[in-house]
Amino acid sequence: MVGADRVLQPAVRGVRRLVGPPALWLRRRVVDEAQDRMRGTRTARWTELEELGLAAPDRVRYVPSPWAALGRVLPRREVSERDVFVDFGAGMGRVVLAAAGYPFRRVVGVELSAELAEVARRNVERRRDRLVCPDVRIVACDATEFEVPDDLTVAYFFNPFRGAIFRTVVDRLIASVDASPRVLRIVYLDPFEERALLDTGRVRLVRSARGRRPGREWSRRHSVHLYELTP
Ligand SMILES: C[S@@+](CC[C@H](N)C(=O)[O-])C[C@H]1O[C@@H](n2cnc3c(N)ncnc32)[C@H](O)[C@@H]1O
Repeated sequence: MVGADRVLQPAVRGVRRLVGPPALWLRRRVVDEAQDRMRGTRTARWTELEELGLAAPDRVRYVPSPWAALGRVLPRREVSERDVFVDFGAGMGRVVLAAAGYPFRRVVGVELSAELAEVARRNVERRRDRLVCPDVRIVACDATEFEVPDDLTVAYFFNPFRGAIFRTVVDRLIASVDASPRVLRIVYLDPFEERALLDTGRVRLVRSARGRRPGREWSRRHSVHLYELTP
């Protein structure tokens, strides 16, 4: 029996590792579509930047965050009407909609693609009556050119860009906090550039939630971290 287990368990683990990620991916796509239908929104369709004529090194394609991602590290009780939220690389606006369910004073989505930004605006309009936040906007521009509002207190990233683009945006967040001292929380899903963030010496990790199984690597890549950038 023990001998059989020794053979069976690695085999089961192997099958899970092989089948698990595609099955989860498929489930997410199916569940995602269903959740969009329920809300009357359109956020589920992954979109390559090549399709939009915007592909360039360090820019990442449109893939939506899970609807629940923000809530995994930012409970509603930690947000008040003094807080302002920006999603850098907002895509079709799913996280903008999730954040607009919190009592933020203002929620902004910044998106490179004018086409995706237009889809996000339509999604916001469709949900307008149900949003808690009274002021929700979508800005179509490159995140490196977006002027960081001096009242921004929560910045969201779902691995939207890497390398020099990411560092430029983080430098602008730091400059904004230096000019108008405040605590700026950063929520980062799939924190590909975490090292760059921590290496600024200005940011500390406050909490994190790992992605669900299977596989350590998959779980790490789908983790969401909350950091604080302080004056
Ligand atoms: C992984 S998706 C995240 C979408 C959304 N934040 C969410 O979580 O549902 C990354 C998004 O970043 C956008 N993006 C990539 N480079 C950008 C840039 N330089 N400035 C603004 N947006 C950018 C892409 O067009 C894409 O919509």
